[in-house]
Amino acid sequence: MRDVAVIGVGLTQFGELWDKSFRQLIAEAGSKAILDSGIDGKDIDAMYIGSMSSGRFIGQEHIGALVADASGFSHDHIPATRVEGACASGGLAVREGYLSIASGMNDVVVVGGIEKMNDVAGTSATETLATAADQEWEAFFGATFPGIYAMIATRHMHQYGTTKEQLAQVAVKNHANGALNPYAQFRRAVSLETVMNATTVAYPLGLLDCSPVSDGAASIILCAAEKAKKFTDKAVKIIASGQASDSLALHGRRDITTLDATVYAAKMAYKQANIEPKDVDFAEVHDCFTIAEICAIEDLGFVKKGEGGKAIDNKITTLDGQIPINTSGGLKSKGHPVGATGVAQMIEVVEQLRGEGGKRQVKDPKIGLAHNIGGSGATCTLHIMEAM
Ligand code: COA
Repeated sequence: MRDVAVIGVGLTQFGELWDKSFRQLIAEAGSKAILDSGIDGKDIDAMYIGSMSSGRFIGQEHIGALVADASGFSHDHIPATRVEGACASGGLAVREGYLSIASGMNDVVVVGGIEKMNDVAGTSATETLATAADQEWEAFFGATFPGIYAMIATRHMHQYGTTKEQLAQVAVKNHANGALNPYAQFRRAVSLETVMNATTVAYPLGLLDCSPVSDGAASIILCAAEKAKKFTDKAVKIIASGQASDSLALHGRRDITTLDATVYAAKMAYKQANIEPKDVDFAEVHDCFTIAEICAIEDLGFVKKGEGGKAIDNKITTLDGQIPINTSGGLKSKGHPVGATGVAQMIEVVEQLRGEGGKRQVKDPKIGLAHNIGGSGATCTLHIMEAM
């Protein structure tokens, strides 16, 4: 296996982007990443694009070729492949690009992630997202993702004494970080009182415990590490890539408060990087709902099982805490255009490691981690990165 580096990143604004098309968004993210990396179109060996449900959101499939076309590469005939794994589609696209370079097949790969979710009504977006749940055992009975994560939350509260206030504090922290991120959908801080009193979506989760419905695109350029210097002097090395899966439905799990896909992907990635959880300086984790961040920091081994709520109380996950989590604002505040999320998480980690985090820069980070989940935990991808 060869080492792989990220040599360029590009992100669009996340939000309700009525004035931009799917094509424009992915072309914007891709061209920013290409400019940032110093590569030329002729250097690109392949493209991998994460998109969860473009067919239902904008009526368009065949996204691999469309993205190559929209990026101006249709006449270069670059192999372009769309990758799908629900909300982990972006992370899976990163991993496919990574594997294709590590194997020696490609030298330079463009990875993209995109979703345009606001072109359909909110109810259709909810129904489309629920196609990533188990149709036979969950969606058929009316379960949607806020409801499914609410079940995880109530069980976590029952088992470990986690409180609604601790959940709310996750949103307060992530909105505070997102307020410092010019690309975030919600660039405003929220008070604990506002989160606690927000309309209930599925108890104990209120409106401000949920990630929003978002439009946006993200892109990174991957390159064989030995060739990175040819293009840039600010490459960031991917020191591990992990992936795992689990039962599609929640009831099939050993323990619904633990996302075993995270546990297993983390085990794989820590082993490859030859590090322990305590060696990670900061992380972007999949906080599609506030409870998901609490489960993630436990399942990644940053805190003991059941102590995620307490960790929020003790402020160890804030920007200046022991292990800053979701410095970008996370899915909660930055936004969650599902196919783009896993790629956007990589971008935050890369920018922090380059020292380009601006007002949200963490102090002297060496190792950062990006954690992307599909559904309620049936798919997980994990990437660990280090400055070169
Ligand atoms: N966080 C903060 N504010 C939000 C928000 C969120 N998640 N969702 C909507 N808002 C704001 C909107 O900006 C809007 O504010 P405005 O009146 O100032 O413009 C207001 O709340 C109402 O927005 P609306 O779009 O009508 O909300 P909604 O009731 O249709 O949708 C949710 C709210 C929570 C149901 C929706 O965001 C949702 O389904 N989120 C979960 C998405 C999901 O499941 N993703 C996959 C995870 S696995």
